[in-house]
Amino acid sequence: MIFMKGVILAGGLGTRLRPLTEVTNKHLLPVFDQPMIVHPLNTLKQIGITDICIVTGGEYMADFMRFLGSGAKFGVRLTYKIQDGPLGIAHALLQAEDFFGKEKVVAILGDNIFEKVEVPKEAFEDEYAYVFLKKVSHPERFGVAVFDDKGNIVEIEEKPKIPKSNFVVTGLYIYPNDVFDFIKTLKPSQRGELEITDVNNWYLKQGRLKAIKLEGYWSDAGTFSSWLKANILRASLVNPQILNHVNLKELIEDLF
Ligand code: G1P
Repeated sequence: MIFMKGVILAGGLGTRLRPLTEVTNKHLLPVFDQPMIVHPLNTLKQIGITDICIVTGGEYMADFMRFLGSGAKFGVRLTYKIQDGPLGIAHALLQAEDFFGKEKVVAILGDNIFEKVEVPKEAFEDEYAYVFLKKVSHPERFGVAVFDDKGNIVEIEEKPKIPKSNFVVTGLYIYPNDVFDFIKTLKPSQRGELEITDVNNWYLKQGRLKAIKLEGYWSDAGTFSSWLKANILRASLVNPQILNHVNLKELIEDLF
């Protein structure tokens, strides 16, 4: 049995959910029956990870601690790290360097809602990075996978105007421990952030990235539309009857 550690990246300003994020952190807003962050926490638990670090900005750290405490009531052990400023997902990940020590790294975005994730056992031990792809109708808001003729992933384009496929990179990542050294060499993108897509492309160029297509529903919850979708998807898991409503499946496809 391998005991893996995982980090939930819950930084950022949540500008796309203003004014809700003027009163709290995005990841504490509800997604149906739970504050958002509980869903990625449960995803980590589902793949066997109970030693979990939470990275968030200083502003609402006390609220996270008040709600989650030591993690005992959720059956996990929590460590908290502050990210000084909304400097991107890769920058948030860097704050967990000490937490991981020399171990392999599992990271999940605090606003990503997965139905279920199957991680191959070797991913926890081998020298590869892993991303998890999902087919969506509106890929342009995400990291989008580009494939060659044989169906191999050759590049990931962040928020392309004209997406080259419908497969997007979801917010669950597994990295070898050298990810931290690489992040330290990264320069901020045009939106002033250290981009996780640059990290994924670095592994891809070296032939060290594996891409796995996910079953089950997935949504992020960073915009009003996707937040609504995440709420509906979560509600449908709690009460499957909801999906029987006329046109609901079409509605979900259109929310992104
Ligand atoms: C981020 C990543 C993007 C990924 C998405 C998944 O986007 O940059 O590659 O597809 O998370 O939720 P952001 O939430 O920063 O727009």
